[in-house]
Amino acid sequence: RIAGPCSLVIFGVTGDLSRKKLLPAIYDLASRGLLPPSFSLIGFARRDWTNEHFIAFVKEAVEQRSRTPFKEATWENLAKGIRFVQGTFDDAEAFTRLSDTVQELDRDRGTRGNHAFYMSVPPSAFPTVSKQLAASGLAKSSEGAWRRVIIEKPFGHDLQSAKELDRVVSEVFDPSSVFRIDHYLGKETVQNLLALRFANAMYEPIWNSNYVDHVQITMAEDIGIGGRAGYYDGIGAARDVIQNHLLQLMALTAMEEPVSFSAEDLAAEKSKVLSAVRLPSNLQDHTARGQYSAGWQGSTRVGGYLEEKGVDQSSTTETYAAIRLDVDTRRWAGVPFYLRTGKRLGKRVTEIAVVFKRAPHLPFENTAVRELGKNAIVIRVQPDEGVTMRFGSKVPGGSSMEVRDVSMDFSYGRSFTENSPEAYERLILDVMLGDPPLFPTTKEVNLSWKILDPIEEFWSTLGQPQPYRSGTWGPTEADEMLARDGRHWRMP
Ligand code: BG6
Repeated sequence: RIAGPCSLVIFGVTGDLSRKKLLPAIYDLASRGLLPPSFSLIGFARRDWTNEHFIAFVKEAVEQRSRTPFKEATWENLAKGIRFVQGTFDDAEAFTRLSDTVQELDRDRGTRGNHAFYMSVPPSAFPTVSKQLAASGLAKSSEGAWRRVIIEKPFGHDLQSAKELDRVVSEVFDPSSVFRIDHYLGKETVQNLLALRFANAMYEPIWNSNYVDHVQITMAEDIGIGGRAGYYDGIGAARDVIQNHLLQLMALTAMEEPVSFSAEDLAAEKSKVLSAVRLPSNLQDHTARGQYSAGWQGSTRVGGYLEEKGVDQSSTTETYAAIRLDVDTRRWAGVPFYLRTGKRLGKRVTEIAVVFKRAPHLPFENTAVRELGKNAIVIRVQPDEGVTMRFGSKVPGGSSMEVRDVSMDFSYGRSFTENSPEAYERLILDVMLGDPPLFPTTKEVNLSWKILDPIEEFWSTLGQPQPYRSGTWGPTEADEMLARDGRHWRMP
């Protein structure tokens, strides 16, 4: 589906997210023919830039990061609808200028009063921007037109601040026009989890505590924090990605079949899972934190977290976090979900591994099954998107029966010729179409903070996270955490 006439205003347009993800995604949408000819983009930022300067900035981001080839004709049309408004968030006059610009585009380019506002800014700025949008009349739509607001994570830093932000935003925008971004939900492989589970007959019967031993959700990154100390230090791995991406992956893995894929039905099932999550009673034994120290990433020597520019020398921010959660439902009773994430790990990989119990009886010699692990279905979210099944197979030849683990692979790249769109492409388009299923609701956001808050509170009483060498698989604490349960982390 193609978006109707509209404009997109980005606050914080000169930031990293905008340059690396949002602007390239907008070009890709245009180049796939999914934007209306009238589409307009307005950047709002403090820098003293002209329109021309901003257009050159967008072009550079597009040339560097877009996934579709650069075509002069596509760019020319897009560029005609690009404007820049200079100002700070507390400057009412800047919002008047923004309002004038938006109206000019409505009139001259035909955006027809439909406007989306993207808050690519820290949560502390949401209240000011929302109030300015209200005061300048920008938040209110004329008859037949729409106004929507896109809010980038993190939505608050705990349950209380999330509720407060929600209160402020909902004073200005109707809840149905607020779209909270969790870009993991825009990833094709994450959506494929629903296809895998609910379009097939063979997985669902074994997707429960009768057969599943445990689930491991891993989001490993090889990069460090780059230039993001200002955002990351004091936030840490758990607030940055467990509260949102990993809990969403867990909810989709554990939820019951939704009545439909509408936003309400999906949110109802995901919320049930998040409400049923039980934290370990002993957080010391069932959580782990780490902070990267200097090491090697491939053949490159990299510094430790405390050496990163802008990081406090005594920072106790974790760059690795692992937690055990249980889901108190009939389906999942006694099946732990282990979530882990870290920066500067061995490689970049996100996967969901559903690990099965051993067959109840193995009619083989003990020595024959020495190399037989537990069966697993691994959903490879990225890179190399696909699904792997691990199971035992007879080793060919020999006079005795010997069984060893093998894998069977489905790869997106090999099975489909279509390119997967980038997550942000899908999500920005969905906002313009007014399609909410891939956006977490307030309830999900709040339930996720409710899970994380006690863990953060416990961690705040501890000192320095355990250091782990860059390029390794994290702190030994995390291995010990699983070993206590008689399990070990998969090596992706
Ligand atoms: C963001 C986090 O939400 O996700 C970053 O703030 C992280 O710290 C990023 O690097 C990872 O996204 P992706 O899509 O590359 O896995």
